[in-house]
Amino acid sequence: MKKIAFSLCMILAAALAFGAETLTMATEATFPPYEFLRGQEIAGIDVEICRAVAQRLGRQFRAENMDFDSVIPAVISGKADLAAAGITITEDRKKNVDFSVPYVTTGIVVIYRKSDPFKDASQLKGKKIGVQSGTTSDAYVLEQLKQEPERYKTSAEACAALMSGRCAFVIADIDPAKNCVKGEDSLALSDFLSSESYAVAVAKGRADLLAAVNETIAAVKADGRLEKWVADYTAESDKLKATATDASAAEVKPSWLSSAWQSFRDDFYLCFQKPSGDGTPRGMYLVRGLLVTIQVALAAIVLGLLIGFLVAVVRASHDKYGYFPFLNFVSKVYLTIVRGTPMVVQLLITYYIILRTVDSKVLIAILAFGINSGAYQAEIIRAGITSIDPGQMEAARALGLGYWRAMLKIILPQAVRNVLPALGNEFIVLMKDTSIVGYIALIDLAKGGDIIRSQTYSVYLPYLTVAAIYLVLVMTFTWLLGKLERHLRNTGADVVHNDS
Ligand code: ARG
Repeated sequence: MKKIAFSLCMILAAALAFGAETLTMATEATFPPYEFLRGQEIAGIDVEICRAVAQRLGRQFRAENMDFDSVIPAVISGKADLAAAGITITEDRKKNVDFSVPYVTTGIVVIYRKSDPFKDASQLKGKKIGVQSGTTSDAYVLEQLKQEPERYKTSAEACAALMSGRCAFVIADIDPAKNCVKGEDSLALSDFLSSESYAVAVAKGRADLLAAVNETIAAVKADGRLEKWVADYTAESDKLKATATDASAAEVKPSWLSSAWQSFRDDFYLCFQKPSGDGTPRGMYLVRGLLVTIQVALAAIVLGLLIGFLVAVVRASHDKYGYFPFLNFVSKVYLTIVRGTPMVVQLLITYYIILRTVDSKVLIAILAFGINSGAYQAEIIRAGITSIDPGQMEAARALGLGYWRAMLKIILPQAVRNVLPALGNEFIVLMKDTSIVGYIALIDLAKGGDIIRSQTYSVYLPYLTVAAIYLVLVMTFTWLLGKLERHLRNTGADVVHNDS
């Protein structure tokens, strides 16, 4: 236990020390050419600007991917130093953060279906309008049209909704909008609805940092670097969204069956085989994501078991013999808080507040899920302990075993055997629940599928494949648990029986 606590402290200390050195940029990488995922890495114009700031300051550089509506809060809370995500300077935002000088002037446009052409803004009123949550497009619908938009996490998602007829129009910044309509014959773009300037945001009161950002922007504008980045990344992001047509040559399609097969093959190629930018096939998002899911789920199960056993023994010992009054109180508080608040909220609090300075999202997820699951496991194990006849403990003590030894050797093995199905259930729930780690921008299996969807605009294959992989994962796990259960039943003879 001491060793574990010591290593945890070391990890925390290392994270703190590392955090001080590194200049962190908060961004939302579905916004080409300003920021997008090139495989695992975040690339784009904004990234180059912030990297140049880090160079100027002689600091390490790191870009953090998160939802757009978390980008400004990240600099306000100190989780990141810079926010750069094609952020438009607005009066509202200026109240909360300081902006650098602008580095580009651009604007927002309407994306519409050609079958329902857009002519002027009066047409938007009262329609379902898709936007990326927290953006100036969101504010436009709210303030100019005085209505609630349909909010999506990315503008690509809003576009998918447009294509499937879930909304009538989408409003987005011109560059990502161009990316959305590329290769979609049914979609088109309007003229600018309004003009906007992008700048880098920093927390209020960080005048030195702001000055460094301004000097950097002036320098990269003057020496032509900015212009080159714009050209290079626009060219790169143009290639990002491939249409199915470059997957295979158009063939004569003799029947609906073969054309369905053809479009499945095109989609399969687009979603899983086509290189995602760093040269590896897009399917690698799922492979890497699966590894993260397994890693987080297994480690959280183990951590939850440790906590669960401890809390269960404390609670059961207190209820039966009045032992450990203080620990019992702490356990009760822990159970109340953990079971009384939603998992997503706990994850976000751990990420943004408690472990603010910890870099490793995997570690954060493991701790948040382990601590959460520990509460449920504790109650299951406690039920197991109370199901054991008190005579067992008395007999063990009479044979000369100490309380803890009796607990460990006699009571717990039987308790666990009795509640194994319930514990298994908890593990399965935990495994599937980890799919919310996308909230802290950790790329797990679910998020991997989501990224593929956001790059290909294809929904069926990515989501159905992700569902199938989870299913296989859970079925394998259930099978392993069944084996363990049978094994325990058969070897149960060498522990004292209370149930047969
Ligand atoms: N320019 C718009 C805004 O500031 C949208 C930016 C969205 N950026 C992004 N990386 N998704 O609200």
